[in-house]
Amino acid sequence: MIRIGIDYYPEHWDRSMWEEDAGRMEALGAHVARIGEFAWSRMEPRDGQFDFTWLDDAIQVLSRHNMKIILGTPTNCAPMWLYRDHPETLQWGPDDKPTGTGLRGHRCMTSFTFRKYAARIINELARRYAGRPEIFAWQLDNELESNHCTCPACQTAFRCWLKEKYGTLDALNRAWGSDVWSGEISDWGQIVSPQGTENKPDWYNPAYMLDYERFGAASLTDFVKFQCQLIRSYDPQAVITTNACFPRHMPDFHQEFGPLDVASYDNYPPVRLPEDPETPYSNAFALDFVRGFKGKNFWIMEQLGGPMGCWAPISPAMEPGMLEGYALQAVAHGADLISFFRWRTSYTGAEMFCHGLLDHSNAPNRRLAELEKLCRRLERLPGLGDTTLHSQAAMLYSADQEFSLKNQEQGQGFSYWTQLRRFHHACMNLGVNFDVVEEHAPLDGYKVVIVPTHFITDPRVVERLEGFARRGGSVVVTCRSGVKDKNGNCILGQELPTLFRKLCGCRVTEYDAIGPAVQELTLERGGNYRITGWCDLLEPDEAQVLARYQGRFYSGTPAITKNAFGKDFAYYVGTVGERALYRTLMLTVFREQDIPVVRLPRAVERTVRAGPGGTYQFYFNNSHHGQNLGVDGQKVHLQPFEMKIRTSEGLWV
Ligand code: GAL
Ligand code: ZN
Repeated sequence: MIRIGIDYYPEHWDRSMWEEDAGRMEALGAHVARIGEFAWSRMEPRDGQFDFTWLDDAIQVLSRHNMKIILGTPTNCAPMWLYRDHPETLQWGPDDKPTGTGLRGHRCMTSFTFRKYAARIINELARRYAGRPEIFAWQLDNELESNHCTCPACQTAFRCWLKEKYGTLDALNRAWGSDVWSGEISDWGQIVSPQGTENKPDWYNPAYMLDYERFGAASLTDFVKFQCQLIRSYDPQAVITTNACFPRHMPDFHQEFGPLDVASYDNYPPVRLPEDPETPYSNAFALDFVRGFKGKNFWIMEQLGGPMGCWAPISPAMEPGMLEGYALQAVAHGADLISFFRWRTSYTGAEMFCHGLLDHSNAPNRRLAELEKLCRRLERLPGLGDTTLHSQAAMLYSADQEFSLKNQEQGQGFSYWTQLRRFHHACMNLGVNFDVVEEHAPLDGYKVVIVPTHFITDPRVVERLEGFARRGGSVVVTCRSGVKDKNGNCILGQELPTLFRKLCGCRVTEYDAIGPAVQELTLERGGNYRITGWCDLLEPDEAQVLARYQGRFYSGTPAITKNAFGKDFAYYVGTVGERALYRTLMLTVFREQDIPVVRLPRAVERTVRAGPGGTYQFYFNNSHHGQNLGVDGQKVHLQPFEMKIRTSEGLWV
């Protein structure tokens, strides 16, 4: 069963409305309500004075209407009294000053005092609610970011983390190469969090910045563990998640979700898609990425339920079909629970124009009707919850690459994410299920592994890729792989792609960081493609040349190579191409591996979920225009944002 949920804020509404709200949710067919994640000041109006009567009542009303509860720990927003009485609980910004109160998410996760108060409120909540039949799951905090707080407690925590990692200052100085610019550290107390880096992260020592990012991620994971332990001490069976988003300070998601039971994500796909056909727009990438956090089906904690309008101008209205289509797109990529943000649009506070399913009027509307249609449709697919995606192709991701590349742009506009998205898009467009996995995840069962810019090079990953190709599987490696060691310093004395040279059978004789300039390459078997960002000038050892550059002083120089390795092949892509290039390349790779591909119009996505509950093919039109396609000899038309689902019996649901 795929569950539908509603994000509800009983504390914002007069009690007289709860009963009717819950009745309407039940009539729709909602199974869960997510509540509580911002309500600390209601749960503990004064230091140590708790009030859970309202929460008891809200849970009772919702339960009476057959909804289970996902209960939030309220640590995202500490109450004003806590900040006032204990200012050390406030997060500090990159300017080395405490942030102002009145916003949200600006508590310091490390502060001893904050932890003490957080533990107390979580203990109170868990003692009261953990293990109760009404509670379906717990959500920790809200949209957690990696810890970049610069308060004194966080500075100390950073130093402790480094001491634990390096043991001695000697080891640390060596790892950081801190003799450059007289950066040698002679006392642990000299180490501070990077300040004023917002505009100039690349002026700092990249090895130090990489460790700082790793510390921020570890510190967040520690906060997650701290909350999990408290809840599990009351109910070891508790199902715990937290709602991920892609924030400015990216966590190491795979690490963050380690202690959690299920991954979840706040899914706000764009209402108006960019016109530029080159923009890798599809939200499918985010969904596949999130499925990879735990390598299994996931939940959506917040699903687009109306036009956005918080901290930004109001977005355009959702088009007909969009609410249902985008929710089903999440299901098509492995979501088993979709909770819509939010029931009714708030009439107060900063998000009063961030629209929920209902407008301020509370009157029935088009969005609610569409949600009802979605619920009825899912009821006709009861087996869907017992299925998942099985993929033969995977792409490696790691937080280290993200951390390192974001602080040290390789050529103007060079982006790790663009490459991830373009490969992903190509696979979507060929109708191939696709996993995005952490770089140390097992590779068994895959036939193709894509390795975009393995910049911070881990010899264990290289060895595993060699083993993978040796046993039979194709590997695709791209430019800026093999550049740095685990400390974030350049690998010395070997030609690029250094550790990947054996696997890829080629070397980089020179590179040209062309930035936003656009050039071309020509495939040996014909066809020109635009390229940008980066050009590795390749010299094959034993690899075969698949494409050559056109233009500049290196016309005719190899740009893409293919090396026979073990039972299969290793491709090296020395540049960043337009989307069509990845499609052509992946078509070749998939054919070689006998992975069936499907010809789909641009922006139509196909995925398959299969398992004991049956086999389901999903066809989604992620565009503003109607699209036609052929499926098993039948003509199929998809309206804008329409999802059609084909069952194993050949029925369209
Ligand atoms: C999310 C957040 C919600 C709400 C929503 C508005 O990022 O978790 O609390 O602010 O955005 O779009
Ligand atoms: Zn702090």
